Amino acid sequence: MIWESRNKSYPESQNLKVIGQGKLNGTVKISGAKNSALVLLAASLLTNEKIILENVPRLTDIEKMENILKNFGVDLVFEKNKLEIDSKNISIKELPDELFNGLRASFFCIGPLLTKFGEAKVPLPGGCDIGSRPIVEHINGLKALGAEIIIDERIVKAKIKGSKNKLNGTQIKLKCPSVGATETLIMAASLADGRTTIENAAREPEIQDLCQMLNKMGAKIYDSGKEKIIIDGVNKLGGCTHKVIPDRIEAGTFLIAAAATFSSITISPVIPIHLEAVTKKLKESGSKITINGNSITIKGKEIKGVDIDTAPFPGFPTDLQAPFTVLMTIANGESKITETIFENRMNHIDLLKKMGANIKLNKNVAQIKGVKEINGMDLVGSDLRSSAALIIAGIIAKGSSKIYGLKHLDRGYENFELKLKNLGIEIIRETSKSTFKENELIIKPSTEEMSKAKAA
Ligand code: UD1
Repeated sequence: MIWESRNKSYPESQNLKVIGQGKLNGTVKISGAKNSALVLLAASLLTNEKIILENVPRLTDIEKMENILKNFGVDLVFEKNKLEIDSKNISIKELPDELFNGLRASFFCIGPLLTKFGEAKVPLPGGCDIGSRPIVEHINGLKALGAEIIIDERIVKAKIKGSKNKLNGTQIKLKCPSVGATETLIMAASLADGRTTIENAAREPEIQDLCQMLNKMGAKIYDSGKEKIIIDGVNKLGGCTHKVIPDRIEAGTFLIAAAATFSSITISPVIPIHLEAVTKKLKESGSKITINGNSITIKGKEIKGVDIDTAPFPGFPTDLQAPFTVLMTIANGESKITETIFENRMNHIDLLKKMGANIKLNKNVAQIKGVKEINGMDLVGSDLRSSAALIIAGIIAKGSSKIYGLKHLDRGYENFELKLKNLGIEIIRETSKSTFKENELIIKPSTEEMSKAKAA
């Protein structure tokens, strides 16, 4: 049987087969940050000059964003991980909803388009199904900057009020430090008239990366990475070359995989300070961590149960909650994992229980009693980070596992299985003949697979 975490299924034909009880060994190259690259792509709409983005990960989310930009008239040339972006022929138009489907970051386009052209029409965002994910902070902030906004049949239509065709700098205080809202408002304010301050701003490294690129383009942004960001609007932004920061979530995923398999690996390049909350918890749990410039070496020694509460940066990232939960399933002792950011990000728990983990879930709090081992199974991941977590679970487990739902994994991890393979994990992408049906908790595999699954 193939189990999935939610009452919903994914019509996919691929799975990753993982042979359990694996060990990792060696060095892994960390890719550019997906969440940075996405917002930097949107920011390129703010100029007519060329932007060269280096270290862009090749992911389906990035492809989707590229596609949206192309449809606005942007010229894009991808060469390995370098992307040349030329927005000089861009025109404002309403694009079909399907282009934006499933990509939360697509909503980033609203800020640059509105501030540059005076109007924007962007569908309500999609993305991982991990909670309600409102955009009220983005909308309220844009309104405070002088936009008139209506939502008409899922399309957010924004227009600058008055005849000046420029947003007006203002003081904004976010009700919650939303990453997306902070980024949208920074981009919108960068070409506004006068000074904007954003209080209770998010401080994630990806926001700092955005501000660094915008400043290279001629923006005047101060104090990114602090709770109050100041943006002095300028009349025009120019081109630049910018290298995307390393992906701290991918980096954390590999560190956790190493800890969970008592392995020793080095990850590079990383910005160790971006991973402080994660390395602190890994050390507390018994791993030995050594930082050397832009690389981190981990030696997985023992796994003690530790508690985590997810929190905005610099706290423990919600995006690493699912992988860390997997680590805790085989810890010595008990642990408590509290998800505080998203209300629906515990979909992996049921699956881990089926694998043999001892977890009691009460709303967003998972109480885990570590077990000696978990068992390999066939599973369907239901969001990006839980898919990666299930792969780690498959690597730890006794026997083999097949992880389905790869459309989520492929959104955010560049060459994940290749990197794991190079570190010594037996993992292979297979094309399955499963038939997937909507609204069934258990997805029925083909007869051939059913017998294989039973044998596993
Ligand atoms: C971004 C990241 C995502 C990460 C998340 C939190 C991208 C493309 N995605 O998502 O990987 O998990 O940050 O670190 O960068 N909220 C409101 N009102 C709003 C907006 C948000 O209440 O108007 C709440 C959300 O419901 C959530 C919390 O704020 O509880 C954080 O959301 P937010 O920071 O906006 O996440 P994203 O930008 O969507």
